[in-house]
Amino acid sequence: MNVRPVRRLKVRLLALLAAVTATLALAVSPLSPPTTAVAAAAPRHRVTYDHYSVSIDGQRVLLRSAEFHYFRLPSPDLWRDVLEKYRSAGFNTVSIYFDWAYHSPKAGEYDFTGVRDVDRLLTIAQQAGLYVIARPGPYINAETTGGGFPAWLKNVPGRARTSAPGYTAAYRDWLGHIDPILARHQITRGGSVILYNVENEYAEATDAAYMEDIQNKARADGIDVPTMTNDCCDAASWTSTWASGQGAVQIPGVDDYPQGFDCANADTSWGPWGAGLTERLREDAPVFAAEYQGGSIDQQNAGFDKCRELTGPKYMKFFYKSNLIESGATAFNYYMGFGGTNWGWLAQPNDVYTSYDYGSAITENRLLSDKYDEFKRQNLFLASVAPLTRTDPATAPASSNQAIETVARVNTGTRTQFVLVRHSDHAATTDDSATLDWTTPDGRYQVPVRVEGRDAKVLIAGYDLGGQRLVWSNSELMTHTVSAGRDIAVLYGTDGTQGSTVLRYSSRPTVKVLQGSVKASYSPRPIDPGLPPGSSSGDLRLDYTHSGLARVLISGGGRRPLLLLLGTDAEAAKFWQAGPLLVRGTSLVRSATVRGQTAYVRADTAKAEDVEVFGDAHRLVVNGSPVRTRPTASGSLLGTLPGPEAVRLPALTGWRSKAESPETRPAFDDSGWTAATKTTTESPLKPKTPTVLYADDYGYHYGDVWYRGRFTGTGAETKVSLNAFTGKRGSYLVWLNGRYLGSAAGGVEADADAPVNPAPGRGDFTIPAGLVKAGQQAVLSVLVENQGHNDDWIADDNRFKQPRGLYAVTVTGSDAPISWRIQGAKGGENLTDPTRGPLNNGGLYGERAGWHLPAYPDGTWKTGAATKVTPGVTWQRTSFRLDLPKGQDVPIALRFGGPVGQGYRVQIFLNGWNLGQYGGDIGPQTDFTLPAGLLRQHGGNTLALAIVARADATPAPVSLVALGNERGGVPVSDVPSPSFR
Ligand code: GAL
Repeated sequence: MNVRPVRRLKVRLLALLAAVTATLALAVSPLSPPTTAVAAAAPRHRVTYDHYSVSIDGQRVLLRSAEFHYFRLPSPDLWRDVLEKYRSAGFNTVSIYFDWAYHSPKAGEYDFTGVRDVDRLLTIAQQAGLYVIARPGPYINAETTGGGFPAWLKNVPGRARTSAPGYTAAYRDWLGHIDPILARHQITRGGSVILYNVENEYAEATDAAYMEDIQNKARADGIDVPTMTNDCCDAASWTSTWASGQGAVQIPGVDDYPQGFDCANADTSWGPWGAGLTERLREDAPVFAAEYQGGSIDQQNAGFDKCRELTGPKYMKFFYKSNLIESGATAFNYYMGFGGTNWGWLAQPNDVYTSYDYGSAITENRLLSDKYDEFKRQNLFLASVAPLTRTDPATAPASSNQAIETVARVNTGTRTQFVLVRHSDHAATTDDSATLDWTTPDGRYQVPVRVEGRDAKVLIAGYDLGGQRLVWSNSELMTHTVSAGRDIAVLYGTDGTQGSTVLRYSSRPTVKVLQGSVKASYSPRPIDPGLPPGSSSGDLRLDYTHSGLARVLISGGGRRPLLLLLGTDAEAAKFWQAGPLLVRGTSLVRSATVRGQTAYVRADTAKAEDVEVFGDAHRLVVNGSPVRTRPTASGSLLGTLPGPEAVRLPALTGWRSKAESPETRPAFDDSGWTAATKTTTESPLKPKTPTVLYADDYGYHYGDVWYRGRFTGTGAETKVSLNAFTGKRGSYLVWLNGRYLGSAAGGVEADADAPVNPAPGRGDFTIPAGLVKAGQQAVLSVLVENQGHNDDWIADDNRFKQPRGLYAVTVTGSDAPISWRIQGAKGGENLTDPTRGPLNNGGLYGERAGWHLPAYPDGTWKTGAATKVTPGVTWQRTSFRLDLPKGQDVPIALRFGGPVGQGYRVQIFLNGWNLGQYGGDIGPQTDFTLPAGLLRQHGGNTLALAIVARADATPAPVSLVALGNERGGVPVSDVPSPSFR
C-alpha cells in the first residue's frame, strides 16, 4: 500500500488417528478440497467458471478466502495452526502471495527450504481443507520490502514490471522456480491450488506484453488452472482491467478497501473510500473480490487494535453483506485473515513497522477476535446455502419505512431469494423498524424487520433447508446440517430484537420448545392446485425475541424432524461446524469426525467449559481423551472439557552487555571491507559523490551499513554535510576521527517523486576545531540504517530503485578526495546464514561477529543489562529456559516497559532470529511476538538486543508476557537455529 492516486478514493494414537480421519472427512465434503492424505490416488479435479461462479468438477463453489503470508510467520508448524483457524472460520480458500525477495538472496539463487518451504506450506493448506489462490507476483506489493522484489533487482537494467530484457530475464527466472512448485499442487494434479494470480494491481505505466508473458511463462511451467488478477479499486478507471485485449486474464478480480487506512479515526470512519462494491469486469467470469479489506495497515501509528476497530464486525456486516447482494460476487478474498510479523528486514519502510497484525480477525499472536466470530457467522451461511452461487438481481420487497432499504437477488433455478436489509442512509446510526411487503416464492408476506445502527442483514426466503422448506425468516441463517435423520439449523439476530421464522408443512407439525421462549402458530393455506388431491399445506410461524439461545424441536408435518437453534449473534458464534458435527462451546474446533458411534474432535479451550456436540454419535473423544457426556433433550451430547494449566514465565535476568561500534575508531582495520570504487549505477538517481556509495551496488541490501571515508586534512574543515537514504523511520549516525558528530533522519520514498528532492536526508555536522589536523589522515565513519526498500506500486523505477546509503558528501573547508570503504551484512549477497536467510541481518559489528547467535561466548561481557547507553551500538544478551505444559498453546511476546523509548532503537534477536525493531521513531509497538518454534517451548533460549542509540539513553526494561493460554493447539517443533561457531 502506498498513498494511492486520487482515483483510489474511489498425542495419543487415537488422537492422531482422529486427526487424520477428521482431515479425511473434510476431504469428502463437496465444498472442501481433497487432501494429500488421499494424494496416493491423486484425484484430479477440473476448475471451470462462468458468469456466476467458479465450479469444481462441475459443482458451483463460492470461494471464501482470506490472505495469508507464510513469510510473516517463520515457523512452519504454526502455518497449520493459522490455516486450521481459517478453515474453522468457514473459509474454504486461502490466498497466498509468494515473496520473491524472501527466497532469493542473489540473482539466480533461490531457497525453498526451512521457513521458506512453500511446498510444505501448500501441503498444509490442503490438509487444512483449503483451496489455494497462488499469487507469485512477480510483483506483490503487500508492504513487504521492495513489494516482493529482491533488492538485487535494483541493479538489473531495465524498468521493472515491463518487457525490458533485464527485468524479463530476472522475473522469468523467479517464475521458473516458483511456478513448478505451484503447478504440482494444482487441483488438476491432486493438489488444492485453484487459481493463479498474475501480477498485482498492475494499473499504472502498464505493458500488456509483460502481462501476457507472465501467463505464457506460467503455462509453459505447467500452470493449467485459470489465471486471474487483482485490479486496484475502482477498476474501470484504469487503462486496462485485464479483462480483454493483450495480457487479459481469465478471471479479472478487483480490490476494495472501502474503510481506508485511518485507524486513528476508527470511531468516525465509515466508507471514506467508497461503497466497496466489486465491479463486474467480464460477462463470462464471476464477479471476484480479489482483495477485500479485512483489516488495515497502521499509517498513523494508532496501534493495530484501532485498526481492528476500524474494520470490526459492524464494518464487516455492512460492507461485506452489501457487497454480497449488490455485486453478486461469488469469490471473496479478505486481506488479511492473519497478518503476522515483519521480522528481520521484511517491512517496506513507508507504511508499516514490525507488526503486520493488520487489525485482522486472527491477531499477530494467533488469537481469535470478535472479527473472527463475524467471519464465521457469514462464512458458514455462504457455505451452507448453495443457491447463493448463482444469483441475479431481483425486485426487492418494498419497505414501509423510508429509513430502511432493501436490495434483492434471486437464484432463478431454485427461486430462493436473498434480501439485504439496511439503512437507506448508509451512515445512519439510528434504530429503525419497517414492515417488508415480501412476495416470496411461497406467497406474499408482511415481514417485520428492525435495523439497529450500521447493521445489515441478509434474509432468505423460499429455501429448501435440508428436508425443510424455509418460507422466510427475519433472523439470519448461520448454518444448517443434517444429522441422525434430522435437520439442525442455527439462526440468529441482534440481541433483544424480535424474530420470526416461517416454515411450510403439509399438516400441522408437533412443536416442542426445549429452551427459551418461542411462540408457535400454524395456519393452513388454501389448497395449492399443483399439489396431489388430498394434500394440504400450511405455515408454521415461530415468534420470539433474540435472547440467549432458544431451542425448538419440530416433528411431523410430513417432514423429517428439525431442531432449530435461535440465538443472538454471540450465541451463534459459539457454534462450530466441523465435518459431520455441529459443536457448541470451546474457543476453537479445529476438526471433527465420527467413526462408529464416537465423535472425535480436536478443540482448544482457554478455560474449563461445557462442550455440546450435535451429531450421529454416542461417545465423545476430544484431543485424544474420552470425555464423559450425557445426552440432552436436544439430542446432543454434553460434556465438560478441562482448561489449560496456568503458566508462569521466567523473569529475564542474568544479562550481560557490551558496547561496540569499533568502526568509529580511526585505527579500526577495514581492509577486509569493500572499496566503494564503482562509478556507474543502475539507480535512476545519479550520486553526487565521485564514486557510487549506494549500498545495493555493493551487494549490501538489508539492515545497517557502515561507511568509512579517509581523506587528508587541511585543518580548515568546519562542517560535514551528508545526504543519505534510509527509507522512512531511518536515520544515520556520523563520527569523525572517533568523535560522535550527531545523527540525522535519512531520505524517504517521497524524495523520489517528481520534482526529485535535491537534498534528501540532509544532515550538517559541525566539526570541532582541532579535530582534523592539516596533512593528517582523517576518518569519517557513518552508520546508515536501511529500513527496507520502497515498493513499486506505480511501476516507477525512480521509486523502487531509490538507493539506500550515502548520496552526497561534502566537507566544508576541504576538497580533498575521500576514499570510501563499505560494509553491510557479512558476505553480502553470499549468505553466511542461509537458514535465517537474506533478510535476517544487516552489518552491525555484533551481527558480523555473531553476537546475536545462541552460544556466542559472552562470558567476558559486563554483567547486568545495559541501563545507560551512549551514541553507537550496545548489545545485551541473556538466556532463559521454558518448559511450557505440553499440549498447550501459549503465545509469548517480549514486552518493552514504559512509554516507547526515544533516541534509540533496539533490534531484537531470539535464538539468532531478528524479530523486529523497537523504538519511538519506528512505531508505537511495545509487544514483540516471539513465535513458538523460533521460541523453544521446552528448552533454552537466547535473547540478544542490539541497541542503536543516537543520543545518551536509558533503554526500556524488557520482560516476557503470555498473551494467551489454550489447551490444544498444534504440535510445534523447534525451527533449526544454528549457533555461533
Ligand atoms: C493492496 C495490495 C496489497 C496490500 C494492500 C494494503 O493494494 O494489493 O498487496 O498492499 O493493498 O495492505
